[in-house]
Amino acid sequence: MDRKLKILVAFGTRPEAIKMCPVIRELYSRPNVETVVCVTGQHRELLTGTMGAFGVSADVDLKLMKGSQSLVYVTSEVLMGMARVLDEIRPDAVMVHGDTSSAFATSLAAFYAGIPVGHVEAGLRTHDIYSPFPEELNRRSIAMTAKLHFAPTSYAANNLYEEGVSPDRVAVTGNTAVDALKYTVTQGFEHSLLNDNYGKRLIFLTAHRRESHGRIMAEMLMAVREVAARFDDVHFLCPVHPNPSVSEITYKILGECKQVSLCAPLGVVECHNIISKCYMVLTDSGGLQEEAAALGKPVVIMRNVTERPEGILAGVARLAGTDREQIVATVSKVLSDLDTFESMASAKSPYGDGFASKKIVDFLLKKIL
Ligand code: UD1
Ligand code: UDP
Repeated sequence: MDRKLKILVAFGTRPEAIKMCPVIRELYSRPNVETVVCVTGQHRELLTGTMGAFGVSADVDLKLMKGSQSLVYVTSEVLMGMARVLDEIRPDAVMVHGDTSSAFATSLAAFYAGIPVGHVEAGLRTHDIYSPFPEELNRRSIAMTAKLHFAPTSYAANNLYEEGVSPDRVAVTGNTAVDALKYTVTQGFEHSLLNDNYGKRLIFLTAHRRESHGRIMAEMLMAVREVAARFDDVHFLCPVHPNPSVSEITYKILGECKQVSLCAPLGVVECHNIISKCYMVLTDSGGLQEEAAALGKPVVIMRNVTERPEGILAGVARLAGTDREQIVATVSKVLSDLDTFESMASAKSPYGDGFASKKIVDFLLKKIL
C-alpha cells in the first residue's frame, strides 16, 4: 500500500481507555499507520485524566455523557455520532475494546458502513446474557460484527471457536491491562492514603455494576461493614464511582465506618500504584480482576459469575457471589488463613506478559494490509 493505513480507535469509558491507550501508543510507533482516536465521551472526567496519563488525547470527541444516562441514550447517541465520524474519516479499520455500549454501538456503525472491526479483549463470556448486564450481550454482538478478534487468553479464544469464529481471524495476545501497568506502576510511589493507614492491612474496594444497583449493592456494602467489624487490623480504601446510583448508597452505608476511607475516583497512576501496595482487592470490576492478578494481589469477586475464570483457575481469585454472608466468609478466609492468602498471592497471572499491544498491532497490520 502506497499510503498510510488509517486506523480509528474508538472508546468511551475509563476501563477502555486504560486498556486501549497502550494499543494506541503501539499504533503511534508504526510509521505506516495514521491513528485517529475517537472518544464517544460516554465518560467525561473519568476519561480525560486517564488518557493524559498515557500521553494520548482525542482527535474526535462525541461528548455525549449526561447524568444517570440510560443504555438507550448512550447506544443511540454513539450509533448516530459514530456513523457521521466514519463517513467523514473513512478509516481502513476500526478498533474497539471489550463490552461497553460505546464499543457495541461503534462496531455496529462500522458494520453498517462496511468497515472492518478489530475487537480487543474478545471472547470473554459468562454464558449468562443478564450478567454482566448489558455487557454480555454487547460483547457477543461485537463478535458477530468483528473481522479480527484479539483474545487475551486461549480460554477466551476457545469461546470464539465454539461460536464458529475461524481461528485464522483470532490472535491470542494477553490482556493490554498488563501492558498498561508498565506505564503506571513505579517503585518509589507514595501517597497520603497509604501513609494514613500505615500498619493496617489495606483492602482495595470497588463496586459499580448496573446489575447490582439497589438491593444487591446494599448487601455487598453491608458485607464490607461486617468484615471491618470482625478484623480491626484491616482498612478499606474505596474510590467511589461517580454514578449517583452507586455513590449515594455507598456513602449511606459506608460513610460513617471508621475502617473505610471513601474517596473520589483515583487517577489511573494512583490507582495502579495503590493496588500494587494493598493486601488484597474486593471488587465487582472486570479490569481489577486482571490487574490484581498481574500485581500478585488476592482478589475476591463480588459477582455470581465471571467472564474471567482464568484468575480463579490460576488460584489468584475467588468468586464470592453477591450474598452478604458469602462475601464475609470468603474475605474472612483470605484475611485469617495465611496459607490461603499466600497461595493466592503467589499464583501465576494468566493475563499475559505485558506485550499484548505489540501482538495486537502486528496481527492487525498483517491481516488488514
Ligand atoms: C459503564 C460500562 C461498564 C463499565 C463502566 C466503567 C456500559 C453498558 N457499561 O458502566 O461496562 O464497567 O462504565 O465505569 O457501557 N459518570 C460521571 N462521570 C464520568 C463517568 C460516569 O459522572 O466520568 C456518571 C454519570 O452520571 C453517568 C453514570 O455515571 O450517567 C453512568 O455512566 P455509564 O457509562 O452509563 O455507566 P455504566 O453503564 O454503569
Ligand atoms: N480505576 C481507576 N481509578 C479508580 C478505580 C478504578 O483508575 O478510582 C481503574 C482500575 O485500575 C481499572 C479500571 O479503572 O483499570 C476498572 O474500571 P471499572 O471497574 O470502572 O470498569 P470495569 O473494568 O469493571 O469495566
